[in-house]
Amino acid sequence: MTTLLEIDALTVEFSGVTAVSDVTLRIAAGETVALVGGSGAGKSTVARAIAGLVSPAAGTIRFEGEELGAASRRRRRQLRRGMHLVFQDSYAALPPTMRVADIVAEPMVIHRQGDSASRRAAAVAALESVRLTPTATYLDRFAHELSGGQRQRVAFARALVTRPRLLLADEPASGLDASLRLEIVDLMTELAQTQGLAVLHITHDLALAARSCSTIVVMQDGREVESGPTADVLNAPAHDYTAALVAAASG
Ligand SMILES: Nc1ncnc2c1ncn2[C@@H]1O[C@H](COP(=O)(O)OP(=O)(O)OP(=O)(O)O)[C@@H](O)[C@H]1O
Ligand SMILES: [Mg+2]
Repeated sequence: MTTLLEIDALTVEFSGVTAVSDVTLRIAAGETVALVGGSGAGKSTVARAIAGLVSPAAGTIRFEGEELGAASRRRRRQLRRGMHLVFQDSYAALPPTMRVADIVAEPMVIHRQGDSASRRAAAVAALESVRLTPTATYLDRFAHELSGGQRQRVAFARALVTRPRLLLADEPASGLDASLRLEIVDLMTELAQTQGLAVLHITHDLALAARSCSTIVVMQDGREVESGPTADVLNAPAHDYTAALVAAASG
């Protein structure tokens, strides 16, 4: 497997206060890595730093072998087209006055890709890949005409339409009920397997992480306290905090 994303010693500060400290992380193409930890641990900040929404105070982020901090602004923008961030409440934030076909195709418009016919075709393909089929029954609907699970699938279709190699999924299923949550997580696993997509899955839920991810990284108070293959982390947690999470997850 080729390493797609390499983060070394990432530190992020907000007004001098450290939110993320010395985080190191690797994700290969086709791999799903879970970033777990309690509220305020720094998980979203890691994703935001990768996506370029916040600037690191220290450390490096390499995407496809290129260090983002060392690249020109233009090159950085190009590289970041290879990744897409999906938020917890992205389904609530889908533009209310746009139809599904346009919502899904919008990132292509933003990136100035294709013409209207090819964008529509890409939107149809993206809807197929998230199993919103037959696509014709969804294309002309508005977000409020969809269920919560369908809306989150639309958010994923929109994330996939520009064919990113890395999906940063920040609590993508936490607003959904238990069965939909599993559906969304299984969808991410399937996309990783069938499309070679690398996924960083941020979640509070260790059980959910264990279901889909090959590697688990545990954060607490801005620091990485443990990381390793899922089975190792679950069966033999090396850190008290992880052990507490495992105990809580197994009820
Ligand atoms: N824009 C910001 N300005 C100042 N502080 C911030 C900002 N964003 C995050 N923080 C702080 O950084 C720390 C980490 O926040 P972050 O959102 O990364 O946590 P998280 O692990 O995603 O938590 P949750 O599970 O609640 O989403 C918190 O103490 C938070 O208050
Ligand atoms: Mg968060």
